[in-house]
Amino acid sequence: MINIIKSQIQPLKLSQSDNQAKMHQGDIVNVLGVAGSMRKGSFSTHTLKLVLEEAKKYGSDSRVLELREVRLPIYDPSGSVSEELYRDVNGNRENVLDTVTTAIKWADAFVLASPDYHGSMSGAMKNFLDYFWEEFAGKTFGYIIASHEKGLTVADQMRTSVRQCYGWSMPYNVSINGADDFDSSGNPINSTLANRIKMLARDLVTYGTLIRRQFLQDVMTKEVSHSYASRYREYYN
Ligand SMILES: Cc1cc2nc3c(=O)[nH]c(=O)nc-3n(C[C@H](O)[C@H](O)[C@H](O)COP(=O)(O)O)c2cc1C
Repeated sequence: MINIIKSQIQPLKLSQSDNQAKMHQGDIVNVLGVAGSMRKGSFSTHTLKLVLEEAKKYGSDSRVLELREVRLPIYDPSGSVSEELYRDVNGNRENVLDTVTTAIKWADAFVLASPDYHGSMSGAMKNFLDYFWEEFAGKTFGYIIASHEKGLTVADQMRTSVRQCYGWSMPYNVSINGADDFDSSGNPINSTLANRIKMLARDLVTYGTLIRRQFLQDVMTKEVSHSYASRYREYYN
């Protein structure tokens, strides 16, 4: 029904050091939306695309990663996943983990969008989060939940995972109650939701830029030792 931002994980050519230089020059922040619903016509994914569209107005480069399209295998810490298990949604063999990792490294800030499944995030979202650690540190996260009950526990659980990886979280969520919140064209039917979508987009770009810039500066300034950022020097080398 709704396709505002064409699903895409474009080839990402920036290296980590390019990204650091970019942030220091005060350039635009890269926002990656991660859609955690496997359902076609998902309301959380639709709302995510509205936020990403809005974020572009504040100067971000916004892209969307739909987990239903990349189908990461269940994370195995022993790393013994067979290449054969990596297939795109059409069954073509592709190491989607490489594609997803490139997108994660490209991002300066994230929006995680999940359905409420039994008061928790979707399995697809949790599986995605399990793959990454250092990649999330010093980056800011916003949250969208499709729920009939506001999905506060869902957001809390996503926040906990992000905090565990030293990511920063926006202090509020965007919650949507399925079809009740949108008209037939996919526009929010109430101004409170419409304003909250704009607020998340604006705040994520604004605070996300500040936090990422300071984090990268602390990573690169060897004299700074009393910052959690100093632990990530090896990773960013
Ligand atoms: C397995 C399953 C569990 C669900 N559990 C809850 C729940 O605990 N609370 C709730 O409000 N909705 C629950 N729902 C409803 C979904 O959260 C709701 O349909 C949501 O819109 C789905 O998100 P999506 O449109 O992004 O796919 C559940 C749906 C499924 C399939």
